[in-house]
Amino acid sequence: MIRDTAAFRRDLLRWYDQNARDLPWRASKALWPVLVSEFMLQQTRVETVIPYFQRFMARFPDAAALARAPETEVLAAWSGLGYYSRARNLREAAAAITAQNPETYEQVRALPGVGAYTAAAVSSIALDLPHAAVDGNVLRVLARLTADASDIGAESTRARFRDADQRLLAPQRPGDFNQAMMELGATVCLPRSPHCLVCPVSKHCLARQTGRQDELPMKRPKPAVARAEAEVAVVRCGAGWLLKQRAARESRMADFWELPHPADVPGVVLSLCGSFRHSIVNTRFTIAVYRGELDVTPDVTPDVTPDGLKSATVDDLETLPLTTISRKALNLEKRASAARPRGIRLQVARGE
Ligand code: ADE
Repeated sequence: MIRDTAAFRRDLLRWYDQNARDLPWRASKALWPVLVSEFMLQQTRVETVIPYFQRFMARFPDAAALARAPETEVLAAWSGLGYYSRARNLREAAAAITAQNPETYEQVRALPGVGAYTAAAVSSIALDLPHAAVDGNVLRVLARLTADASDIGAESTRARFRDADQRLLAPQRPGDFNQAMMELGATVCLPRSPHCLVCPVSKHCLARQTGRQDELPMKRPKPAVARAEAEVAVVRCGAGWLLKQRAARESRMADFWELPHPADVPGVVLSLCGSFRHSIVNTRFTIAVYRGELDVTPDVTPDVTPDGLKSATVDDLETLPLTTISRKALNLEKRASAARPRGIRLQVARGE
């Protein structure tokens, strides 16, 4: 383990004070922005989170604003970030905070959707409580600092590293210490080709001293990625597009709106307009996008079609929680329409 803990903390925090990225959630140590940012950062990269965080805080500036918002509006604001249970849990957590502001680690940990990591991050940053927050970046930093070749995917290794980080934590500045460790992992102690020459704590690093920084951390190989195919139909209907709602019992993205499958619109002549890739957990999908048009006849109501599909306008698309696959397909169809020379229309049989 690190020999001079005090010197390590000093070197790390001095570097952080001078080099911390100017991230929007670092402007305030109030509980609400910190909680929102940590929920968003649970499974999503910093660069992706930044614009979502800014829009979300403008729309829901405090916990009470989120607690009283309808769930569909919250899901719409989260749309594109993925892992939507986070949005639902955050809304429930907002209601709990509105009733009673948490003041201890245990009270933060008891909020819906808050695990040990998020509780440590939130309570150290917003409440100044001494709890070490160990995410993937921090595991890598610790494996190198201590030249520990154990598998960082194993729970026993993670528990040991959490204990080590807890002993290392700067008790006077726990939030800054945690964020400095994350920052070091994100910007200097990179997975491949770590920037040891500019590392503020290289003199404390056992992997660097023994030339093993490129071999560590040790990880079990990831499971193979599965491949699958899917199809969606972009069907114009008057001024809008046909959408359908996923069932409330779906395990993924329940209640979200999405484009129909070609089989949902049997009366519509469809032509293939392109395809794109989209990964969900361990599966890489190739999504074929078809387009077509539904005649709006007087016996078809403009809002809800006989098949239970809904016609959504551009304005609806802003406010409805829409699956990312549907958003991508609509964008692809829009680009394809803009690029298509007038008068030429390739008709492709379905399934080709
Ligand atoms: N990842 C999780 N929490 C973070 C934070 N507060 N700053 C940067 N990256 C993070």
